[in-house]
Amino acid sequence: MAAETAPAPLLRVAFVGKGGSGKSMISGTIVRLLGAAGEPVLALDSDPLPGLAFSVGIPQHDAGLPEEAVVERPEGEDGPRFRLAEDAVTLAERHARVGPDGVRFLQIGKAGSRAGGNQGRSLHAFRHVAAGLDDGPWHLVGDLPGGTRQPFFGWARWARLVLVVVEPVSASILTGRRLARLGQVEGGPRVVAVASKVDGPADTELVAGRTGLPVIAAVPHDPAVAAAERLGSAPLDHDPDAPAVQAVRSLLVSLRSAGGVA
Ligand SMILES: Nc1ncnc2c1ncn2[C@@H]1O[C@H](COP(=O)(O)OP(=O)(O)OP(=O)(O)O)[C@@H](O)[C@H]1O
Ligand SMILES: [Mg+2]
Repeated sequence: MAAETAPAPLLRVAFVGKGGSGKSMISGTIVRLLGAAGEPVLALDSDPLPGLAFSVGIPQHDAGLPEEAVVERPEGEDGPRFRLAEDAVTLAERHARVGPDGVRFLQIGKAGSRAGGNQGRSLHAFRHVAAGLDDGPWHLVGDLPGGTRQPFFGWARWARLVLVVVEPVSASILTGRRLARLGQVEGGPRVVAVASKVDGPADTELVAGRTGLPVIAAVPHDPAVAAAERLGSAPLDHDPDAPAVQAVRSLLVSLRSAGGVA
C-alpha cells in the first residue's frame, strides 16, 4: 500500500529589514508565485505606507481592517480590553481584496490608527487576526515596515520563519544584525537573511558575515525591478524571467523544501 503523502505545510513567513531593502518586491513576488501555482495565499501588509500592494499588482486602495473589526470592552465588564468583532478567518475573508492569480491581500496596520484610534488597538487587532489565521487554509506572507520597531513590538509573532532582507551596505547590514536578535527569543521564529540587490557572491558573503545570519537566497540587483515600478506593474507581470524574479522563485523552492521554516 502506498504511503500517504502529507500535505505540503502552509508557509507562515514574515519579511523584515531596513527601509527600501526590497521586502515588498520579494514578498509580493512570493505571494504571486504561490497564487499562480493555484495555492491559497493571504498577503498580510502591516506597513501603513503602500508597498506590498504594488508588488503584488493590486491597485492602491484602502484594504484595511475597519475600526469596527475591533470591539472595546464596555466599561465595568471584565476581560481583555479589545476583542475581534468576528473570528479572524471571517474578518480576513470579508475585508481582504482579491488580486491577480486569486491572491488575497489584507492590510492590517490601519485598524484603529485613524483619528481617535490608537496604536495599541491596531497592534491588538493585528495580533489577534494573525494568530487566528494560523489555522486558516492559506499560506501567510507578511510584509512589515522598514526598521526594527514593529518586529520588536511583536508584529511578526505569528510567523514561524522571519526573513531579514539585507542589502550589502552598512546601514542595511546594521539593521539586519539587530533584527537577527528576533531569533534569540525562546520559542520564537527561526530567523534567516535574504541578500537583496547583490552584484555577485562577494555581496552575499558580506551579508552573511556581517549579520551572522544564514543567507537562504540572494536576489540580484536588477534594473527590471525599477522598470516595473516606473510602469506601475508587479515585477512578475513586467518580466517573469527577470533575474530578480527568478531568484525569488528559487527562494520559494527553498522555503517549500524546508517545510516553510528554513
Ligand atoms: N532586486 C532589485 N533590483 C533593483 N531594484 C530593486 C530590487 N528590489 C527592490 N528594488 C527597488 O528598491 C526600492 C525599494 O524596494 P521595496 O519597496 O521592495 O523595498 P522595501 O524594503 O519594501 O521598502 P520599504 O521599507 O520602504 O517598504 C524600490 O524602488 C524597488 O524598485
Ligand atoms: Mg515595503
